Amino acid sequence: MARLAWAAALLAAVPTALAAANVTGVYGIIERRMPRHVGQFTIKSVEGDGDAFTVSDTTSPRGGITIECTTTSACARGLYTYVTEVGGVDIFWTGSRLNELQILPQVGKPITGSAIVPYRYHFNTVTFGYTTAFWSFEKWELLLDWLALKGVNIPLAWVGYEAILVDAFREVGLSDAEIFDFLAGPAFLPWNRFGNIQGSWGGTLPAQWVEDQLALQKQIIPRMAELGMTPILPAFTGFVPRALASHYPNASIILGDAWSGFTAPYSNDSFLEPFDPLFTQLQKSFISKQQQAYGNVTHFYTLDQYNEINPANGSTSYLSSISSNTFDSLRAADPDAVWVMQAWLFFASSAFWTNERIEAFLSGAPGSDSMLILDLFAEGQPQWNRTDSFFGKQWVWCELHNLGGAMGMEGNLPLITQAPLEALYTEDNTMVGVGATMEGQEFESEIVYAILLDQAWSSTPLNVTDYVIKRAARRYQVKSLTPGLQKAWEILGSTIYDNQDPATGATIKAILEFSPLISGLVNSSGKQSLGLPTTVPYDTNTTIVPALQLLWQAHEANLALDGVPEFTFDLVMLSRQLLANRFIDLYTHLVSVYDDAASSSDAVNGAGQPLLDLLADLDALLYTNENYLLSTWIADATQWAHGNASYALLLEFSARNQITLWGPTGEISDYAGKQWAGLVGEYYAARWKLFVSTLVSTKASGRAYNQTEVSAASLQLGQAFDLKTWGTEPGETWGTKGNTFDIVNTIIKRWA
Ligand SMILES: *[C@@H]1O[C@H](CO)[C@@H](O)[C@H](O)[C@H]1NC(C)=O
Ligand SMILES: *[C@@H]1O[C@H](CO)[C@@H](O)[C@H](O)[C@H]1NC(C)=O
Ligand SMILES: *[C@@H]1O[C@H](CO)[C@@H](O)[C@H](O)[C@H]1NC(C)=O
Ligand SMILES: *[C@@H]1O[C@H](CO)[C@@H](O)[C@H](O)[C@H]1NC(C)=O
Ligand SMILES: *[C@@H]1O[C@H](CO)[C@@H](O)[C@H](O)[C@H]1NC(C)=O
Ligand SMILES: *[C@@H]1O[C@H](CO)[C@@H](O)[C@H](O)[C@H]1NC(C)=O
Ligand SMILES: *[C@@H]1O[C@H](CO)[C@@H](O)[C@H](O)[C@H]1NC(C)=O
Ligand SMILES: *[C@@H]1O[C@H](CO)[C@@H](O)[C@H](O)[C@H]1NC(C)=O
Ligand SMILES: *[C@@H]1O[C@H](CO)[C@@H](O)[C@H](O)[C@H]1NC(C)=O
Ligand SMILES: *[C@@H]1O[C@H](CO)[C@@H](O)[C@H](O)[C@H]1NC(C)=O
Ligand SMILES: *[C@@H]1O[C@H](CO)[C@@H](O)[C@H](O)[C@H]1NC(C)=O
Repeated sequence: MARLAWAAALLAAVPTALAAANVTGVYGIIERRMPRHVGQFTIKSVEGDGDAFTVSDTTSPRGGITIECTTTSACARGLYTYVTEVGGVDIFWTGSRLNELQILPQVGKPITGSAIVPYRYHFNTVTFGYTTAFWSFEKWELLLDWLALKGVNIPLAWVGYEAILVDAFREVGLSDAEIFDFLAGPAFLPWNRFGNIQGSWGGTLPAQWVEDQLALQKQIIPRMAELGMTPILPAFTGFVPRALASHYPNASIILGDAWSGFTAPYSNDSFLEPFDPLFTQLQKSFISKQQQAYGNVTHFYTLDQYNEINPANGSTSYLSSISSNTFDSLRAADPDAVWVMQAWLFFASSAFWTNERIEAFLSGAPGSDSMLILDLFAEGQPQWNRTDSFFGKQWVWCELHNLGGAMGMEGNLPLITQAPLEALYTEDNTMVGVGATMEGQEFESEIVYAILLDQAWSSTPLNVTDYVIKRAARRYQVKSLTPGLQKAWEILGSTIYDNQDPATGATIKAILEFSPLISGLVNSSGKQSLGLPTTVPYDTNTTIVPALQLLWQAHEANLALDGVPEFTFDLVMLSRQLLANRFIDLYTHLVSVYDDAASSSDAVNGAGQPLLDLLADLDALLYTNENYLLSTWIADATQWAHGNASYALLLEFSARNQITLWGPTGEISDYAGKQWAGLVGEYYAARWKLFVSTLVSTKASGRAYNQTEVSAASLQLGQAFDLKTWGTEPGETWGTKGNTFDIVNTIIKRWA
């Protein structure tokens, strides 16, 4: 009972902007996604606490469905509940299939639902680099509809940041050259916003980019608002162009840490300390310009100053001075400002961030609701429980799961459905939301975020088995799964998506995406794999293989499935995972043959060839599906050049560099690697070919394998690859090519 009273108190604290149901935007979803049912839904705003809805049959001769709801977000969630639970259709990151619903089925007994937390959050600052960096509004629209239907009401909204920032910097006397010297390349802006990096190693960020992103944000923000979402907008963080120090010699500007292998001039960003009056001046200027650009749409501001870089001074008085002055600057600009902060630093730099320091820092802002802390990796390394619920600040239980946009099927659905509830029902805690904070939003991982956002509408843990099977039926557009397909998803649900091993609790990185090493790649989560787990925490032969075979049999039995996009996607996904896992075995075998003093160079060559064959099969497989193409990433990037060839080159370089070398000289090479057609068949294959031929030649000559040389040659391959232009190599196409079913058939025969 005490808990319920507490929840009611929190709900009362939700800003009124969140509590008024304007149904216009929800009708918009129907027009966009279910055009055949326009006019058949009645959506009614009703009074009530929190976010709640009732779905019932319309009691008029014309029939249809009525959704009564207390907030816009609840209206959208009510619509989603109807289309999924009654209609049997769904919307995915791979596309909306809601219009597949031919006739609206009756509801019968009304269905009610309500959110168990006031806030449902989405995005990580770096998702704006790893996933949405180059998105057009069309791609945004699909995701925004997905978010609204899932019931998200506080999404992060970073697009267009630089336009406002540039204006604020101009106002304090910086020239454009000085300002643009600070800004990162198009694919790297999130880390510039974090103060991790500065400058652009592929050519200065074009002013056109800044303008275009502002225009894009002017489409995104009203759509978010219309869909019942309060955007979390950026603020001035303190990171400034280095030239500011010469304009203001007396200002407290210090050099920050170098970040993640980067060195000056691309790191050690200048930081204007918040106790300097110039900080507040810039904050007020920034926020007022932002209000002018988008209207007064929010009081939430995302602001991170120490993401993977530490404060200059660990004294508690320094830390509380930083945070209190930062907070005061926000309130000077917006009297109702709430400071939203990622709590990643408390995990990533846990040696620095002792509880005493965390408390000092968080106490710089008063009370509970002055801040909203995102416990970013709560499914793996929760911080709320070691910090006494962030020392009383309100916070959101977030799921990270994805690092660098890695693929690699993995999930712990039982934990995701239980741990947030356990946290919420812990006495005296200040949790107010759940959220998805994936670094990259890879299509294959959608299920692990979908279930969390769905859990936000259920006060008891969702039944995972049931969830997985019903979701698969919606994916395959069938009323219920055939026994074979049901078996396939039972296997996946009880193994790959029930991974209890905390050491591998994230997307599993495929070793084929790494620059070749003779050791350290397999079963790693250490330095060689950039901290990403490469251990496959399940037996491929009893999970991926039977699931893939069962899907294949379903295809043979019912060719109608071939026209269902998510069915084809899942076939490719499982085949891809099979190959990625088999590659580990081939690699391990190759190294053991090489290490065997008695083996010949022919034997090494024989053991090496299958790795290259596998990569060729993988590339051919990926080419068949629109969701696995390097050319899409590049086309999305170059669309912003408006036909300007030199700008297009800059964009393509930025796009390629992020997913390959990630830095001018491979600073965090391969962290954001992808199994995409083109990338696998050209870049990864070239590196592994180099590896195999080096093993063969050193075996033949008796010379020692030299990792330094292999790594240097591999870096050169990367630098050459990043300068290429798509469409100039043989075999490169802009869209898909090849037939999925032919290739999957071959892969099953060859590799299962
Ligand atoms: C509801 O939202 C629509 C679209 O965003 C807007 O045009 C309309 O003015 C809003 N209505 C009210 C009453 O606020
Ligand atoms: C900086 O401080 C010095 C010493 O207080 C003062 O003489 C000087 O005018 C200041 N310069 C600026 C640009 O404010
Ligand atoms: C950059 O920061 C690192 C510490 O992270 C420091 O060792 C280095 O000296 C700094 N470089 C510059 C140019 O300040
Ligand atoms: C750290 O900050 C404290 C308090 O503001 C100050 O007394 C101390 O001198 C600072 N230390 C360094 C190394 O700057
Ligand atoms: C937005 O808020 C600011 C104060 O925070 C106020 O000065 C301004 O008039 C408001 N703008 C609108 C359009 O309401
Ligand atoms: C917090 O919870 C995690 C996950 O359950 C656990 O591993 C960790 O030990 C807990 N920390 C504290 C201080 O209780
Ligand atoms: C979960 O759902 C499955 C499949 O619908 C069902 O067999 C099982 O009994 C359910 N478990 C619980 C605890 O309700
Ligand atoms: C990796 O770990 C798995 C068990 O998780 C084990 O079967 C395999 O032999 C290990 N491989 C290597 C190369 O250490
Ligand atoms: C899995 O199957 C492959 C191919 O049949 C076989 O080579 C391998 O030994 C099996 N692995 C395990 C762990 O059973
Ligand atoms: C094309 O883009 C380049 C690089 O961004 C820019 O310098 C140049 O002015 C642009 N040319 C035209 C004609 O817009
Ligand atoms: C490996 O190659 C590098 C670069 O050519 C060289 O400096 C180094 O001495 C070599 N290492 C060994 C052990 O031969």
